[in-house]
Amino acid sequence: MAVEGASRVRIVREAASLRAQVADWRRQGETIAFVPTMGALHAGHISLVGEAKTLASRVVMSIFVNPTQFAPTEDFGAYPRAFEADAAKFDAAGGDLLFAPAVENMYPQNFATLINVEGPAVAGLEDRFRPTHFSGVATIVAKLLNLCRADLAIFGEKDYQQLKVVTQMARDLDFETKILGAPTIREKDGLALSSRNVYLSAEERRVAPVLHAALARCAADISKGAAIEAALDVARAALADAGFVTDYVEARHAETLRPVASLVDGPIRLLAAAKLGKTRLIDNIAA
Ligand code: PAF
Repeated sequence: MAVEGASRVRIVREAASLRAQVADWRRQGETIAFVPTMGALHAGHISLVGEAKTLASRVVMSIFVNPTQFAPTEDFGAYPRAFEADAAKFDAAGGDLLFAPAVENMYPQNFATLINVEGPAVAGLEDRFRPTHFSGVATIVAKLLNLCRADLAIFGEKDYQQLKVVTQMARDLDFETKILGAPTIREKDGLALSSRNVYLSAEERRVAPVLHAALARCAADISKGAAIEAALDVARAALADAGFVTDYVEARHAETLRPVASLVDGPIRLLAAAKLGKTRLIDNIAA
């Protein structure tokens, strides 16, 4: 129960305590929503908690910076960590339990299993640039779903390919937890909220909204009948002009992530990843 002026969130570090609390709630007829995160919470994560609260009586969040989804060259060590502030934000949002395990508890010595998803995980988008990323994501999400046994789990559409990979994995491996996506939350100027936005310099932050603007224009052009490849080229050129180094700007089937040639192959999702200086931004939008 909420206690005025005091934190209501229970912080749990051990898998056994998570299982025990969830089982206890279940015995009392409660329903459970799960919001997996890597912490450094922003309004996007908090919107997932808000959504979760409308769908279940208890909300569990995990905060775990998962080493297996980072390549050795990526920012695992530097990834922002802000546990105290995160706990306060989750509490203020009305969350119930924060699961924050240690790396050695999730990956004990002799851990030797990785889940390899195909289909959306090998769509030629993030996987081209981060070839080991989705097996790390699928593995940790499978572990977390197994531990939490929630009725539903909510993932932000900001990581659109991830949402599709997790959906595929949960379906293929018969997880009972229902996987749901929730819309991307944006700054007023269109920049998608991301924990990595803190890496942007003031000048890069000024330029960063061009990513969303280029996708929005591309979506509008396609819906007005422009040829898809030509519209994508306009977006690629806009990013290059603004100083981005683009990994990809692609149009894909919104569910399968397979390439699409025209609107009739739809529904279409536009997905992009591009670097501004050292910061890699991703975004996506319905076309
Ligand atoms: O989107 C994230 O924050 C992570 O990839 C996730 C789903 C929590 C798995 O570590």
